[in-house]
Amino acid sequence: MKPLARSVTGVTASGIRRFFDLAAQVEGVLSLGVGEPRYPCPPAAKRAAIAAIEQDDDAYTSNFGRLSFRQAIAESLKTHHGVTYNPNNEILVTTGVSEGADLALRSILEPGDEVIFFEPAYVSYGPTVIFAGGKPIALATSAANEFEPDPDQIRKVLTNKTKAIVLGYPSNPTGATPSKAVFEEIVKIAQENDLWLISDEIYGRLVYGVEHTCISSLPGAWERTILLGGFSKAYAMTGWRIGFACAPPEVIEAMMKIHQYTMLCSPTISQIACEAALRESEADVDELVKAMEKKRNFFVAKLNEAGLDCPMPKGAFYAFPSIKSTGLDSETFTERLLHEKKVLVVPGSAFVGFSGDVETGRNHVRCCYAVPDDILEEAANRIIDFVKSLG
Ligand SMILES: Cc1ncc(COP(=O)(O)O)c(C=O)c1O
Repeated sequence: MKPLARSVTGVTASGIRRFFDLAAQVEGVLSLGVGEPRYPCPPAAKRAAIAAIEQDDDAYTSNFGRLSFRQAIAESLKTHHGVTYNPNNEILVTTGVSEGADLALRSILEPGDEVIFFEPAYVSYGPTVIFAGGKPIALATSAANEFEPDPDQIRKVLTNKTKAIVLGYPSNPTGATPSKAVFEEIVKIAQENDLWLISDEIYGRLVYGVEHTCISSLPGAWERTILLGGFSKAYAMTGWRIGFACAPPEVIEAMMKIHQYTMLCSPTISQIACEAALRESEADVDELVKAMEKKRNFFVAKLNEAGLDCPMPKGAFYAFPSIKSTGLDSETFTERLLHEKKVLVVPGSAFVGFSGDVETGRNHVRCCYAVPDDILEEAANRIIDFVKSLG
C-alpha cells in the first residue's frame, strides 16, 4: 500500500483524546474534560429547527449561508462588538469555527509560510496550519503574565516567511483575556509587517467583569483580519456545527470557494436554528454568562483552597491551575485523579505541543467548569481530597 500523506501522519492525534479514551473505561467519571457547556441550547433554536424540519425547509442554502442568517450575524456583531460587516459579501457561514479556521489558513498560506500563535493554545491551531501547508511558530506564554501574549516575542521570530498571526482570546485553555493595549500592539506589528490576523473569538461573549476586544474593531485591523465566531460556546450549541467567518470580500470569496467545493453549505437546519438563537435568545446567553461567572468564582476558590494556585481567569470557561505544589507532572496528576477520584481534567501538556513549553505543560491542568453545579461541587471536593491524599 502506498503511504498516507506525510502532512497528516506527521501530526500526532490530540493529547486530549487519550484521556477521554481512558475516562471512557472508568465508570461514573465526573468530567471537567470536554470543552463544552453542559447547558441546554436556547429554546428558540430548538423550536426553529423543529419547525424547519416539519416544513421541509431542508434544502441546500447559498454557499455563503442563508442571507437572513448572515444579516442576523452582522447585526449581532455590530451590537456586541462594534464591528461592521456586509452580509452580502463579507460573511461566510461555516461548519463551526473549526472549518472557519481551516478555510482561513488554506486561503492565505503558500507552502512553507509561517504562522505565529501563542501557547498554551487550542489544540487545533498547529495541526490546521500544517494541513494548510504552513509552518507553525508557537510562542510560549507564562503563568506569571497570566498567559497573555507578549508582542515583543512576535517581533523576535518574524521572518520573510511570516504570513499570519492566529489569536484565540479569551483563551482555551487558560481563560486569558488580554487588554486592548496588548492587541493594539499586535495589530501594529501586523501592519508594519503586512501580516494577516486570524482571530478566533468563539469565547468573545464569555467575559467576566472585563470587556472583550474584537480585533477587527481596532484601527488598522479590519482589512487584514479574518474574524471567526460561532455558536458552540455562548449558545451551548456544539453539535449543531455552525460558525462564521468575517473578512474583506476578496478573502471571503476565496474561503467560499474552498467551502463550496468541499462542504457546499453548512447544515441548513442548524443555520435556521442559529439564526433564531441570534434573534430571540439574548436573555439565554446573558443567563449562561452569569451562570458561568458564578461557577468560575466557586471553582477557582475551591482550587485555591486545595492549594492549587489559580488566578481568576477573565474569560472562556476554563480554569488552568498550577499543580506544581503536588510534585506530580500534569499527565500523572490527570491519570491518578481519574483513577483515584474519578474526575477527568486535561493535562497542560496537551496545549503546548508546538512550543514544547515544558514548564507550563508539566505544571498545569485544564478544568472546564461549564458543568452543572452539583457535578462541579462534587468534582471540586474530590480534587481537594486528592490533593490532600498526596500529603
Ligand atoms: C478556541 C476554540 N476555537 C474553536 C473551537 C471549535 O469550535 P466549533 O465547535 O465552532 O468548531 C473550540 C472548541 O473547543 C475552541 O475552544
